[in-house]
Formats: sequence, structure tokens, C-alpha cells
Amino acid sequence: MGTDFRYFASAAKGIESILATEVESLAARFESAEISRIEKGRAGVSFQGNLSAGYLACLWLRTASRVLLVLDQFDASSPEALYRGVQKIAFDQHLDISETFAVDFASSGSAITHTHFGALKTKDAIADQFMRKYKLRPDVDVKNPSVRFNVYVLNNRATFSIDLSGAPLHERGYRQKMSRAPLKENLAAALLFAANFKSTFDAGGTFLDPMCGSGTLVLEAARMACDVAPGIDRSRFGFLKWKQHKRRIWDEVVAQAIACSNVGLERARADQAQFPLVGFDNDPEAVEIARDTAARLGLEGIVHFELRDINEAGPLRESGNGVVLCNPPYGERLGNESDLVSLYRSLGDLYKQKFKGWRGFVFTGSPMLSKEVGLRADRKTIFYNGPIECKLLEYSLY
Ligand SMILES: C[S@@+](CC[C@H](N)C(=O)[O-])C[C@H]1O[C@@H](n2cnc3c(N)ncnc32)[C@H](O)[C@@H]1O
Repeated sequence: MGTDFRYFASAAKGIESILATEVESLAARFESAEISRIEKGRAGVSFQGNLSAGYLACLWLRTASRVLLVLDQFDASSPEALYRGVQKIAFDQHLDISETFAVDFASSGSAITHTHFGALKTKDAIADQFMRKYKLRPDVDVKNPSVRFNVYVLNNRATFSIDLSGAPLHERGYRQKMSRAPLKENLAAALLFAANFKSTFDAGGTFLDPMCGSGTLVLEAARMACDVAPGIDRSRFGFLKWKQHKRRIWDEVVAQAIACSNVGLERARADQAQFPLVGFDNDPEAVEIARDTAARLGLEGIVHFELRDINEAGPLRESGNGVVLCNPPYGERLGNESDLVSLYRSLGDLYKQKFKGWRGFVFTGSPMLSKEVGLRADRKTIFYNGPIECKLLEYSLY
């Protein structure tokens, strides 16, 4: 199959470079996907590729939010122009009349500012096209559509796409319960990339999160280390009812990912030196949730969760090094800033005293509390946790 499609993998602001590196690795690893023209854009990365490139992106990109298949770009400087542009797309090639659809609409710097109106105009254009041709139209289902269309109008120019991911990709499908304020899985993965966890791991290092909550960072680290595709537990994607979906190609992509994870998990179970990757928390419920999820994912022995206050935390083995990274409470959602001062001080002491030779990281949305760690940060990287600007602070622990 040739290089036919243009894709856009979206991500939270600040993650673009990490995501671009992920797409480059995908291109190098799966050459048959013919991924090319990788370009960083606004809140995402675009690339060219064949159909399996789209499937691979949905299954393997750890930091992406969605994967969009771009169908067309056109002028949308007025509602009429938007309607005409949408009408140029042959929807019966993408959507069966018996299926349902939804439209996600967003705009920036454009004449159409009202997203609900933009979505409505787009739905009308799609429905009218079916009515003219078949005297019938597919129904709209906002919550659970067979096919989700995405319209993004930037400076009056619309990009019209099919949302191949369907539900956002941070919904890995492995969580049944959550503790308080869990990180989104794709943000946790981005933090691990920024901390160079995988290179540290490949060089013999391990991982520990002393305030792990439901264990997102540890679980994402384990799945990276064991080559488990992040989307492997998802039963639903946005392309499964798309008319051009090729079941055979998707099945091959999934079978290959299952083979990779079997090899990775087996190797990890035999490796006593770097595993388990560890999470501690002083909340019994959070630890139980983390353990349950690990068990469901077949990560027993590969990860280890334990009820421990940070005052009792430390590496499980005396020798060794790795990445110690945590996301302590920072007042926005958990607790009051002044109560947290002593917690951040204890964290700094813990890093200094127990993790010599490791690289330490703190992810927080509070500049005031980050100063209480009492260590000089070598590097600060900005990420957004929803609307909150947060920093990942890196410390060398000599
Ligand atoms: C923001 S949450 C971490 C969320 C986690 N990254 C996740 O994705 O689920 C902060 C965690 O710090 C834990 N915590 C607070 N004080 C602690 C202490 N003194 N020792 C250990 N854990 C603590 C809380 O129980 C909470 O689970």
C-alpha cells in the first residue's frame, strides 16, 4: 500500500517535541507503515503514512491524546463557506448510512467562534449530502458515535478529519478505580520520556515513585520497559466502524503488539536486577488500587506497590540507581499549600539521603512548594496538567 494518508496526532501543549520523537521512533521501528513528513504543529504532530501507520499510532503512541486522519482542508471564513467545504467530502465513502456520527468542532482566530453552531452547520452539511443522494440520513449520536468527525478552524481555514482514536488515548482501558488526583496516563508517559527513563533503564537503572497514588507513573514505566503497547487493553477505537477500516491490517498490528508484550513481560519476569519498579504511598486505598491494576495487567513481580510514608521510603536494594520521580500533592486539588511545606522538605531530604547516584524529579504545579525541596534544579520543563501550568524539576543527586 502506498503512502496515502495525512495524520495529525494531538497532544497537550508542551508535549509536541516528545510526541514528534515518538512518531520518529514509530517510523524507524515499523518501516512498512511508510511514515514520513513528520512535522511538529500546534498542540500535536502531523505525519504522512499508509493505513497501518494510523493503526500503529493509535496503538503505540504513549503521549498522544488523539489520532486524526485528515480528509480535507478548506476555507471556513463564513458558515456558508464551511457548509460548502464539508459538502465536497464524499461521506458515503466513510460512513455507512445505518451507522451514527458526531462532530467535534473547535476554532481559533476565526469568524466562526461558536463551536456548537459550527458543529451544527457541519452536521447539516453531512446529513443533507446523504438526504440528496439516498433520501435517508445517518443519525447523530453525540456520546457514542460509530464515526467521530473533527473540525478545527484556524484563522478561517478548516481541517476536517476522522477521529481514529474515538475516546481519548489516555483512556488506556486498564483503570477500574482511581485514587485522588491521578495523572493522565499520557502525561505520566510524557514525564517519563522527559526524565529519560527508558535510556536510564536500558543502561541498567530502575524506577521508584515515593508518592505513587494509583500508580500511574510506575505502571506506565513498566509498560514502556516491557514494550507493552499503551493501547493494547482498549476494546474501542474510532476506526472500527469507519467504512475504510481494514480488519486484516488492524488484526496484524494487534497481533504484532501482543507478541512484543509477551516477549517483554517474560524477559522482565526473569530479570531480578532492574525489577520490580516501585511505588510507595501512605494511603492504603491508593496502594490497593495500584496493586489491583497491576494484577489485572499481569505486572505482578514487575512492579511492587507498598504502603509507606515518605519518611520510610528508599530504594528496595542498596546498590543500583535509576529515576526517582513523583507528583506530590500541590494544593490545587489536594490539601492546602502551607500544610504541604513540610512534605516537600521531607521529599528533598529523602532524595538527598537515600537516592545518591539516582536522578531525582518532582512534578508540581506550585512554584512556592517546589522551592521547599531545598535542592537546586538542573532543569525545569513546563507541562500542563489540564489547565494548570506545572513544572518537572530535575535534580542530580550526588
Ligand atoms: C497527586 S497524588 C499522586 C497521584 C499519582 N501520580 C497517580 O497518578 O495516581 C499525591 C499522592 O501523594 C500521597 N502522599 C501524600 N503525603 C504522603 C506521604 N507523607 N507519604 C507518602 N505518600 C504521600 C497521597 O496519598 C497521594 O496519593
